[in-house]
Amino acid sequence: MAKSPIVARTVLSLRQALRPYRRAGGTIALVPTMGALHAGHLRLVAEARKRADRVVVSIFVNPTQFAPHEDFGSYPRRFAADRAALTAAKVDVIWAPTAAVMYPQGFATRIAPEGAALAGLEDRFRPHFFGGVCTVVAKLFLQVQPDIAIFGQKDYQQLRVVTQMAKDLDLPLKVTGIPTVRERDGLALSSRNAYLSPDERAAAPVLSRVLKASAARIKRGEAIAAVMTDGVGEIVRAGFAVDYLEARHALTLAPVKTRKDGPIRLLVAAKIGKTRLIDNMAV
Ligand code: PAJ
Repeated sequence: MAKSPIVARTVLSLRQALRPYRRAGGTIALVPTMGALHAGHLRLVAEARKRADRVVVSIFVNPTQFAPHEDFGSYPRRFAADRAALTAAKVDVIWAPTAAVMYPQGFATRIAPEGAALAGLEDRFRPHFFGGVCTVVAKLFLQVQPDIAIFGQKDYQQLRVVTQMAKDLDLPLKVTGIPTVRERDGLALSSRNAYLSPDERAAAPVLSRVLKASAARIKRGEAIAAVMTDGVGEIVRAGFAVDYLEARHALTLAPVKTRKDGPIRLLVAAKIGKTRLIDNMAV
């Protein structure tokens, strides 16, 4: 049977757990998560395993990236199942601080990302989100001090924002993005898929279907604006309210008008019932 990971709940115990790895001169990979782990998270962990000698997975449902009306209270928390999955994945340390450890009384500092964080995508609908993400991710980076940090392309704007933050703050680590893991019908794996009713689940693959078809049409030279309008129509007909479906520059996330404007990423966010889903694909 695989050895259980060390579970660290305070910064001091985390440092104690990591010290021998550092002394031995090995590399450390960090996979930040909010738990409720699925095969997408576990792919990141497997990649971390390949790329570093030691793997730390953080599990922390970060209150500062949720707005008051969002699902912080109901976000799935399944520590025992997560720990079993991370034991099987041969993780060395689970970093699972409480909110009081992460944000003690008197906590007063927040990172305010710009650039891709103000692209008018997720930030338009979740204005506090990237400030919360960057603040907690910067703390996780400084607590763990990994050589490499692994994120999913599933949260594409987040990946761009965190990559830029690490560069801007000269954080001595490499941020790596891993392609999205999907169900057989194309739906991107997400902890929030658990909220979908059977009918909503049946409708949900429309997002990846539209992204794929739109990417193919844009590659064939069709006008981006018309392709996006058709895509929104198809997603709405499937029962979603669309927050955005957009073609953006893959690195800056600036709007693009034609294929010549650069490598293009298509990004979508849409709500069905009470559940908001996001997805993205390269053109
Ligand atoms: P969470 O939603 O738990 O996601 C943790 C990591 O798993 C993120 O990097 C995300 O992009 C990746 N991920 C999620 N679904 C995936 C899929 N289907 N395929 C590949 N990777 C996938 O993102 C967060 O947590 C938080 O914002 C966090 C970065 C931990 C900061 O609180």
